[in-house]
Amino acid sequence: MSVPAYRVEPLRVSHDRAAFSCGVAELDYYLHHQAGQDARRKVAAPFVMLDKDDVVVGYYTLSSYSVRGRELPDAIARRLPRYPLLPATLLGRLAVNQEHRGRKIGQLLLMDALHRSWKNTAEVASVGVVVEAFDGAARAFYQHHQFMPLADHPNKLFITMATLEKAFKVR
Ligand SMILES: CC(C)(COP(=O)(O)OP(=O)(O)OC[C@H]1O[C@@H](n2cnc3c(N)ncnc32)[C@H](O)[C@@H]1OP(=O)(O)O)[C@@H](O)C(=O)NCCC(=O)NCCS
Repeated sequence: MSVPAYRVEPLRVSHDRAAFSCGVAELDYYLHHQAGQDARRKVAAPFVMLDKDDVVVGYYTLSSYSVRGRELPDAIARRLPRYPLLPATLLGRLAVNQEHRGRKIGQLLLMDALHRSWKNTAEVASVGVVVEAFDGAARAFYQHHQFMPLADHPNKLFITMATLEKAFKVR
């Protein structure tokens, strides 16, 4: 049986992440020191992507979240009920090891996170995925992947679950 080039697993103590470096100190610190604790306390669910040699090439975190209907672009808000708060999924962090940049790992990680978020809606409802971009480059990365900025929060971007359903649902 062939071994996949990359696989994604929920973060475990045995994952060696000490050498992970994405170039953003805060995101490195989080994986090295905080992610395990957040997982234990159910604050965030961290996932790591590993290569064939078990090197951590990237990671992301998912959590439950809520968005205000009025923050959403009009075209989206119109299709949703006017509840003050709507259930959503937060892709809080996503980062790729510097040595592995530019090889579609970020895209693969993002697709894995979005697919998992969509799959989870079978059990916990969510109208879309919100991401928090660290800087302009991160914002551009998400916009390149069809995310739209939330009103009043230029660093928070959103993609609807309806869009993900169209992309992932097997008909
Ligand atoms: C942003 C980041 C995740 C991108 O990862 P990557 O593996 O280098 O990117 P990929 O090779 O998967 O790129 C996939 C596509 O996104 C595009 N892309 C990558 N970075 C981009 C950026 N900053 N702006 C716009 N597009 C970008 C690529 O051109 C490629 O486009 P294509 O499919 O049309 O050819 C990575 O640079 C990173 O970890 N940065 C530091 C942490 C960070 O900013 N995280 C983001 C959220 S907090």
